[in-house]
Amino acid sequence: MEAKVVRQKFLEFFESKNHKIVPSAPIVVQNDPTLMFTNAGMNQFKDYFLGNKKAEFTRIADTQKCLRVSGKHNDLEEVGLDTYHHTMFEMLGNWSFGDYFKKEAISWAWELLTDVYGLPKERMYATIFEGDASEELERDQEAFDLWKQFLPEERILNGNKKDNFWEMGDTGPCGPCSEIHIDLRPQSDVDKVSGAELVNQDHPLVIEIWNLVFIQFNRLADGSLKNLPQKHVDTGMGFERLAMAIQGKQSNYDSDVFTPMIDLIASKANLKYGTDHKTDVAMRVIADHIRAISFTIADGQLPSNAKAGYVIRRILRRAVRYGYTFMGFQEPTLHSLVDLLADQFKDVFPELYAQKDFVAKVIKEEETSFLRTLEKGLKRFESIKTDAKDGVVKGEVAFELYDTYGFPLDLTSLIAKENQLEVDEKGFTAEMTKQKERSKSAAQQSAGDWIELDAEAEGVFVGYDESETVSHITKYREVNQKGKTIYQLVLDKTPFYAESGGQVGDTGYFDFGAEKVSVFDTKKENDLIIHYTKELPSDLNAEFKAVVNLKKRKLTENNHSATHLLHAALRQVLGDHVQQKGSLVNDQVLRFDFSHFSKVTEEEIREIERIVNHKIRENISLDEKRNVPIDQAKEMGATALFGEKYGDFVRVITFDRDYSVELCGGTHVGATGSIGLFKIVSESSVAAGVRRIEAVTADRAEEYFNGEMDLLSQIKDLLKNPKDPVKIIQSLMDEKQQLQKQIEDINIEKAKGVKSELIKSAVKEGDANVIMAQVSLPNAEVLKQISFELKNEVEGLILILAADLSGKPMLSVMLDDNIVKDKDINASQLVREMAREIKGGGGGQPFYATAGGKDLSGLSAALDIAKVEIEAKLNSKV
Ligand code: SER
Repeated sequence: MEAKVVRQKFLEFFESKNHKIVPSAPIVVQNDPTLMFTNAGMNQFKDYFLGNKKAEFTRIADTQKCLRVSGKHNDLEEVGLDTYHHTMFEMLGNWSFGDYFKKEAISWAWELLTDVYGLPKERMYATIFEGDASEELERDQEAFDLWKQFLPEERILNGNKKDNFWEMGDTGPCGPCSEIHIDLRPQSDVDKVSGAELVNQDHPLVIEIWNLVFIQFNRLADGSLKNLPQKHVDTGMGFERLAMAIQGKQSNYDSDVFTPMIDLIASKANLKYGTDHKTDVAMRVIADHIRAISFTIADGQLPSNAKAGYVIRRILRRAVRYGYTFMGFQEPTLHSLVDLLADQFKDVFPELYAQKDFVAKVIKEEETSFLRTLEKGLKRFESIKTDAKDGVVKGEVAFELYDTYGFPLDLTSLIAKENQLEVDEKGFTAEMTKQKERSKSAAQQSAGDWIELDAEAEGVFVGYDESETVSHITKYREVNQKGKTIYQLVLDKTPFYAESGGQVGDTGYFDFGAEKVSVFDTKKENDLIIHYTKELPSDLNAEFKAVVNLKKRKLTENNHSATHLLHAALRQVLGDHVQQKGSLVNDQVLRFDFSHFSKVTEEEIREIERIVNHKIRENISLDEKRNVPIDQAKEMGATALFGEKYGDFVRVITFDRDYSVELCGGTHVGATGSIGLFKIVSESSVAAGVRRIEAVTADRAEEYFNGEMDLLSQIKDLLKNPKDPVKIIQSLMDEKQQLQKQIEDINIEKAKGVKSELIKSAVKEGDANVIMAQVSLPNAEVLKQISFELKNEVEGLILILAADLSGKPMLSVMLDDNIVKDKDINASQLVREMAREIKGGGGGQPFYATAGGKDLSGLSAALDIAKVEIEAKLNSKV
């Protein structure tokens, strides 16, 4: 059964059990401070589990792109070394939100695996939660009894909290789970050792394929468990493992999910997979990592130096270095794998196919720069080798390689071994722990648990229609943000827009009559709208008027609507390849990042501005449609963003059906005329293939133009208001150039004069020709030139000049090479002594040195010092 059929059959099976099939959420998580990446299929449904939101469908199934490389679930270091862990994998899942529970979850899982996929029943094991006294949790007898219908008791195994109590992160929905494991070993091995002994023992062929979680609790920040109002099912099955099991393979990489990629990688290196352990690991690493990297970039996360971007960069580097060290990929290679991946997943995850050139370009740029660092790191290793006298590479040094050059510990160990050295791994781990603690303490906030005041309330957003609403607090919590206490409040109804889609959160206040509580920001956590305040109202249960700062909101709306107009104009002028890659909209400015491979030219900028301003003057009315079925919105030609999570019903913002139609949750102007004026103030590059435009509108645009006009009138004033200021400036510049030339000519003449005077003043003392003089010259350059010319022209030269360079004192000592040798005079030493007299310092070489200073009046004293010194040297018998 081909992998794509395996996937299809899963979805069909649950559809037949009345599940709604939904698309995968983006792999990069937005609006959830507890997660960077989707690490389980259930993430996108967190609010349903917690009861923050009511599920529209109580049964759902999908295949979800997951990434387990950070936080609670992190498999990165295993990947490639074994054959069944991945960074990115697909999780096939089915969910019940307060609908069915253990009975259906278990029996359907069994039916699908054995009847539909035909997996061998006798090779299957189930684990159930054995209970945990410290948490006062009982053994999951119910699950045990249910499994007894399908499996003999000896194949239903107890599991501890680590394996059989699933938690999403440090806080959040959780519950006991029951895992299905399969034994894929050859019969001869099975006869020797029972599979029961190998379950959860990291055996590559006795592996977990499906996890059925019975979500019943919320793990609170204080570590305690709170019962959820309803019970839910959350299941997750590893698609790649399932395909391997069904296809009778012994490694995930041997199923057709991976073979085309493995073959391509092998062919690029002229190698064969399955012949050498080291190159096999490298091929698996690359085959795995290219998926993680490509899909995250397609979902909008670019590699960078912080947070999620850094995680991606690290994965990419791990792949590059395996390729470099073991496969001979000295040139960027990963980027050339993107096409195959895009084709392979075109039907399931079309976002990669749609952006494959962009993704490849970003990867290539990263590879190129890391290959350079890698070489530098390897050079750094050369000096490490010399330092490691006792045969040990210190922990800090290994950590430096890891942190600065992106060398994973195993790479450092490997290179060390090749050089007959060892790495102090304990020291490395200690450094790593220190760094983690540093970043933990720098982490943005630690939140207390929510205190519920009104559990029934739904937390509705009314801000599209109202800017003031009577409301009350439904829950709140205290948060420590960088050492300061702030409060987060959720209301039953709110006009406050929470930061999302690039638009900043509203500010404003809660009006309690006598008391006012100011709101300094509004943000989202999943779908919860959270108001940030510095204080709590004295009566937490009182009703109040929630009032948005309308002035700020209106200015922000100008910028948001202008962003839509800009987006459409960019596509019109630059082409359809323009994809939004990020945006920021506040009351001051709008910033728009988009994929485009070259600088936007001046003419293109003008054209874009012209189109946008034209659309503003057309005063197009906002056409806002809420709750549009997503398919209908797509038919309308609405621009959707990759990496955004859209529900079945979306909001569509249109300014002229033939011009700008976008899926958007933001707030907008009633008609484009209120934007007034649009002006691009900068165009730059933010990353490979991503350009950034910053623009201003309305009052800000006016201010911008006024600023430019002021500048112009100042210039005109200076020039005494000529008719054609450009012409005047041009002629001033020409004139300046001519004058400069003249000055240079005069300087040359002057230098010639000074030089011939100096030659005349030379005093012969034995073999030496001594010239000592105070001179006046235009600049240091001329002084230097004269000194060198005299060196060539006068034999046995001892030249000491104390110069007045248009008001600045400077000393110069130039000596014939023989003088330096025979007379023990050192220009550098001498000039330093002299320099004290002009309150300065300098130096140079034994034959030529100079010194600058502050005190012009010291020039003649400086010369006196030289006279004494030179005389002494010339008269001594050396
Ligand atoms: N949330 C569970 C897991 O990730 C089941 O989907 O394993």
